[in-house]
Amino acid sequence: MGKIKRRISGIRKLINYWNYLYYVKNKPIVSDYEYDQAIKELILLENCRPDLITPESPTQRINVNIKNFRNSINHISPMLSFNSIYKYNDLISFDNKIRNMFKINRVIYCCEPKIDGVAVSILYKNGKLKYAVTRGNGYIGENVTNNIINISGIPLSIENNITKIPSLLEIRGEVFLIRNSKSNFLNERNNAAGTLRKSNLNVSDKKLLGFYCYSADIISKEFFFDYHYNLLQHLKLYKIPISKYISCFTDTKDIIEFYNDMYKKKSLLNFSTDGIVVKINSFAMQKKLGITNKIHKWAIAYKFPSYEKITTIKNVVYQVGRTGVITPVAKLNAINIAGATITSASLHNFNEIERLDIMINDTVIVSRIGDVIPKITKVLLYKRNKNTIRIKIPNKCPVCNSATKYNFNKTKLICTGKLSCSAQFTELVKHFVSKDAINIPGLGNKLISKLISNNIISNLIDIFYLQEVDLIKINGINYKLAKKIIYEIKQSKKNINLPNFIYSLGINGVGIVTSILLSKFYKNINSLIISDIKILMKIKGVGLKTARNIYDFFQDKTNLVIVKTLISKKVGLKIF
Ligand code: IVH
Repeated sequence: MGKIKRRISGIRKLINYWNYLYYVKNKPIVSDYEYDQAIKELILLENCRPDLITPESPTQRINVNIKNFRNSINHISPMLSFNSIYKYNDLISFDNKIRNMFKINRVIYCCEPKIDGVAVSILYKNGKLKYAVTRGNGYIGENVTNNIINISGIPLSIENNITKIPSLLEIRGEVFLIRNSKSNFLNERNNAAGTLRKSNLNVSDKKLLGFYCYSADIISKEFFFDYHYNLLQHLKLYKIPISKYISCFTDTKDIIEFYNDMYKKKSLLNFSTDGIVVKINSFAMQKKLGITNKIHKWAIAYKFPSYEKITTIKNVVYQVGRTGVITPVAKLNAINIAGATITSASLHNFNEIERLDIMINDTVIVSRIGDVIPKITKVLLYKRNKNTIRIKIPNKCPVCNSATKYNFNKTKLICTGKLSCSAQFTELVKHFVSKDAINIPGLGNKLISKLISNNIISNLIDIFYLQEVDLIKINGINYKLAKKIIYEIKQSKKNINLPNFIYSLGINGVGIVTSILLSKFYKNINSLIISDIKILMKIKGVGLKTARNIYDFFQDKTNLVIVKTLISKKVGLKIF
């Protein structure tokens, strides 16, 4: 089988499986973004090999197992979809294409939020709600009238005194889960679909669902509208719910402003939205543009970037920090979120593993919002299989084999090896040479690890005894670089201020701010060394925990020798 043929067959299988989970099982396992990307790739490949297009391809028909529907209804006209874009440039291309096609300078677009829920079509006959159907496979959907009539906001009758009513009106829109702060992606479509399909809604379910109409077809032509926007406004007269965030624009710059504005508002809205829909406002133009691949060409979804992805946990490793805290880190099958490749996520602590019920080989949702570090937010328990492995709480440090113990409130697991643990020592050296501490930029993380593993430095004092010959032993360090680093080390001794020195010691809980407070209070390092908990606690901003850490630090003989040697003539750190 050729490469393209194999890939086409692979993607089709995947999409069919996703469709099955989404439409039949109500259990989506991929985000809209991933689904759209797969469909896009399939369309591209099929365009290269049109001979391989079969009626069964997901691009030709939207697959769904109708047999699973309790009560199905044929749609009057198929409920089709539209393409998605993710970049501003794609919006400009879309606009250029339309303008060239119609040989006009500006097109009126109607922009709306893309609501993340389930599509339904509702038929009104002589003003009375006759039935409601889900989108289903686009041609046949499920009869959900009994549940739709319970959604407050959907009028059961549109008769009124203000305006005439069409004898046959079909409205289409999205049923959505009314958001609360806890709801998040995947659950939205899933829950809205699940709730809508329940045979009997209970009182609390009824409060959960909302509806906004986004299009309509007046089947009996009593009225005629030229524009989509005007039709929606007219429907308001019938008290049909229409989103208040609907606006018309001709300039793509205004559309991007609308898009950015909706993105900002996103978390405040009572429905979940994953982008905006840009529709050509004129019905005449819509008709001329028509359909390809079962997709309307007169509208596109301009999607928001997706910050959540699904992946699996390959393994869990343990990181030992400067203060001995052991942090479990999940190694992930690589995913790309908003441009960054993500291969691991911190699990923070062992309580977090328990809280989220995470196991190795589990399928999980990873989210990275803004620039913050990626986080596992949910385990997809229904994907769990017999290959999952429970994560062990290590009773020995994975680096130095010393015993582990919990801290006082059992939130952190700690390696008791202190500085004999090479991981703790490595982290201390990294901290010691950092910018706010002693500041030796040439001593990078990799070099530090090599100096320690080659036994060239085994305590902080050794750093000041380093010579060029020691450094050139390390792979990748030439004489010129070695000389530069040794120069930096010498310079660092000359001008270190007291806060930076206190901070460099890496006392648990003593960051740069506390270091400044301590220097202001004690004025010199010797006074700090001999201070006691009571006095330390007099300083505003120093609590009992930190005071104890500081006191304990200077009571430790090894620490004391190191600090005294650093400031002795032998090493000669000059603190001012
Ligand atoms: S218009 C051109 N407008 O998005 C097709 N659809 O893939 C007519 N959707 O399942 C649909 N918000 O249910 C339209 N403001 C909006 C929408 C919207 C969400 C859904 C729709 C369909 C999917 C399209």
